[in-house]
Amino acid sequence: SILVLDFGGQYNQLIARRVREANVYCDVKPCTVPLSEIRAGDYKGIIFTGGPASVYAENAPRIDPEIFTLGIPILGICYGAQIIAFTLGGKVSPGATALTREYGKTPLQLHDSVLFDGMINETSCWMSHGDYISELPKGFVATATTHGCPFAAMENSKKKIYAVQFHPEVLHTPQGMDMIRNFLYRVCDCSGTWKMSSFVDNMVAHLRENIGDRRVLCALSGGVDSSVAAVLVHKAVGKQLTCIFVDHGLLRKNEGDEVEAIFKKQFDINLIRVNAEERFLTKLAGVSDPEQKRKIIGAEFIRVFEEEAKKIGSVDYLVQGTIYPDVIESGPGNAAVIKSHHNVGGLPDNVDFKQIIEPLRILFKDEVRAAGTELGIPENLVWRQPFPGPGLAIRVIGEITKEKLDLLRDADAIFREEVAAAGLGRSINQYFAALTNMRSVGVMGDERTYDYAIALRAVTTTDFMTADWAQIPYPVLEKISNRIINEVRHVNRVLYDITSKPPATIEYE
Ligand code: XMP
Repeated sequence: SILVLDFGGQYNQLIARRVREANVYCDVKPCTVPLSEIRAGDYKGIIFTGGPASVYAENAPRIDPEIFTLGIPILGICYGAQIIAFTLGGKVSPGATALTREYGKTPLQLHDSVLFDGMINETSCWMSHGDYISELPKGFVATATTHGCPFAAMENSKKKIYAVQFHPEVLHTPQGMDMIRNFLYRVCDCSGTWKMSSFVDNMVAHLRENIGDRRVLCALSGGVDSSVAAVLVHKAVGKQLTCIFVDHGLLRKNEGDEVEAIFKKQFDINLIRVNAEERFLTKLAGVSDPEQKRKIIGAEFIRVFEEEAKKIGSVDYLVQGTIYPDVIESGPGNAAVIKSHHNVGGLPDNVDFKQIIEPLRILFKDEVRAAGTELGIPENLVWRQPFPGPGLAIRVIGEITKEKLDLLRDADAIFREEVAAAGLGRSINQYFAALTNMRSVGVMGDERTYDYAIALRAVTTTDFMTADWAQIPYPVLEKISNRIINEVRHVNRVLYDITSKPPATIEYE
């Protein structure tokens, strides 16, 4: 496998992912990882990532020069390239002119290198750097240039040390993926036979060995991540795993039953479903402030979970569905820090467990989906869109009642059905109905009505930090509107939300 050493750059997650896309397994570790651990890892190659620092800054991450004597091929990217130059006696200088600081798409000239085998020499790359390598370390030759960078790439092929100032991992470097493949296959001699099924098999074996005959507890939400994590652990230790599924009554139509059916019937997992609808609705009665609603749900969720866990008694492990984008948020070099919050509101205090297991920590969302498919989890669950921990409570604007929730569930189910029927399901990243706290006058069958308005929200996004409203074709919207008005009582208006994020958020509360 390959080791990706994390120097804190913004594209680090992408590098790991590109390596796996080339069918090579990789670990991501902070750049501070001890050399002994690297030696023990039996890696075929090491990639140094980019990072925000300047090598001359006081707290800049450094690297033990001994790493270059291990005989393991190394590829440095951006900061990773500069740290190689710096450590091995070359020179890195601040880009004094606009020319030597490069940002964005930059023309690139490639010279002879195994990294660039089979490529067009006049190409382009994505640059993002303030400093640049101004003098090569001894034993290195330049293998690529840009207008501003005499050493846009350098190498010491005898020692198998390679460095590129640009970012081969981003799509804006058109031949970047081929460069990564050349490094993996030709320099590191990786076979490129790793598949998601190997991840699943290895993880199952690893979990089995480490858990032994001990007991494991998992909070199942019905979302993709916790579901895949639970099925993986179940595959490893079977009935030693108990899942608690807190049904707070704020799930989508039939969702609770579907989750129960999949986990109990299909996988024969020890599942405790806690039907806590009444408890949650009682706590939420009369509350209309969004933050207060969220807090009540988070706190109550923990309380219910703790009560159930107590009945089970002491366990050894708690499974969390943390995935790589969650991990990386804890910052560069901190990839090992365990996330301190659960998506519903926090880790339980009063549950007796010794350690947390996070089997999906290295995977991206689409890789988690691939693992889920590999494990035989049904398509509709594997492709489920994100659903907030507080559930429909933050989609009923204002005060919540059972009637409003049921009405929203029906409208939302119609919306989702029609989006799927139109074949738009995977091109829209999140879509749902919300119940506005507005009532308005309408006319139905010659009668005056004074009823609710449903808002439809549909967005396209990659990171959910920013989002565009999805341009669902009018005929599809028309059908959805007609069906909701005809099939859901007490709705006499359907509105389509055409606000992007920012300024709006995806959810309404
Ligand atoms: P906003 O509304 O902030 O939502 O634009 C961004 C994404 O986060 C989801 N979301 C949540 N997920 N617990 C969660 O697990 C929450 O409390 C929560 N609030 C919002 C939202 O559905 C969207 O995908």
